[in-house]
Amino acid sequence: MRFAPPANLDAITGDRLQALLRTMPKAELHVHIEGTLEPELIFDLARRNGVALPYADVEALRTAYAFADLQSFLDVYYAGAGVLRTEEDFHAMAMAYFARAAADHVVHAEVFFDPQTHTARGVAMATILHGLARACREARHTYGIDASLILCFLRHLSEADAFATLEAALPLRDLFVGVGLDSSERGNPPEKFARVFARCGELGLHRVAHAGEEGPAAYIEAALDVLHVERIDHGVRCVDDPTLVARLAGAQIPLTVCPLSNVKLRVVPTLAQHPLAALVAAGIRATINSDDPAYFGGYVNANYVDTFRALPLDARDAYTLARNSFAASFVEDSAKARWTDALDAAFAAA
Ligand code: HPA
Ligand code: ZN
Repeated sequence: MRFAPPANLDAITGDRLQALLRTMPKAELHVHIEGTLEPELIFDLARRNGVALPYADVEALRTAYAFADLQSFLDVYYAGAGVLRTEEDFHAMAMAYFARAAADHVVHAEVFFDPQTHTARGVAMATILHGLARACREARHTYGIDASLILCFLRHLSEADAFATLEAALPLRDLFVGVGLDSSERGNPPEKFARVFARCGELGLHRVAHAGEEGPAAYIEAALDVLHVERIDHGVRCVDDPTLVARLAGAQIPLTVCPLSNVKLRVVPTLAQHPLAALVAAGIRATINSDDPAYFGGYVNANYVDTFRALPLDARDAYTLARNSFAASFVEDSAKARWTDALDAAFAAA
């Protein structure tokens, strides 16, 4: 792969840089599909499925999107996901995301889904996976987006529950490329899922995990050393441990950073105090992502644009972050090279 930065970077500033952030091709590697459910779609699906919502209307629901921490968000997020019942619902949710992603010039997306929050309500694994996988196939035809799915285990549930979820998904193994670990981080360390992730490794699944969002830097190390993950989701608490920062940079372990999420869930006080610029400067393979865009105030381009406004990041960093999103993705090298060439072309034309 050729990773030679374009020559004209210093000339791209101000409005030109802002425009380029929006139009440059990029991959999104950290988006929970249930976190893309917009309030309007939640109400549509609730009506369609006869699900009662504890909110009078869309505005009342939106007003509930003020979060004190990760758990206060998760309570609202799981309640919103309760409207999903049929294969068509999962398909509609994912197609709505792909339309937004296409508008943001996303060319590749690795999309998380949380099957346990649906199977616990009696929805079959096949209903979830068939709906989402059909949307991924359609995304290619409709938007030219290459998309794949990552099955996340809910870490507040037991190891046995995670194993049962893996069993239920294995007949549909071809429909997802990897596994992840999300939900309430504190008190649910990576070690709890060591055996599940070892089994996933034997099955040839890619492995990622949320670590160092609210939890300590030690959870990032455990995700690497015990779960053998290839990427860390969030990972921003690594800044508490300079040795770990050096390790992440040295080994080029990707971090899927979600700046607007971190502000909304009070992981950082303000965007101006976000460690992303420091992580990039330290040589860490960071990427920018939206996490749960319907809840956190913006899709991936809003994350790029707002973060570049708040932090000392320039065109060289924009190139690095987009290039990282391809380098960190679970695709063959030829696809990475093709998208990086398209990135070079976008910079050359800027
Ligand atoms: N952290 C943990 N679990 C999640 C998140 C998050 O940011 N979003 C959806 N599930
Ligand atoms: Zn997340």
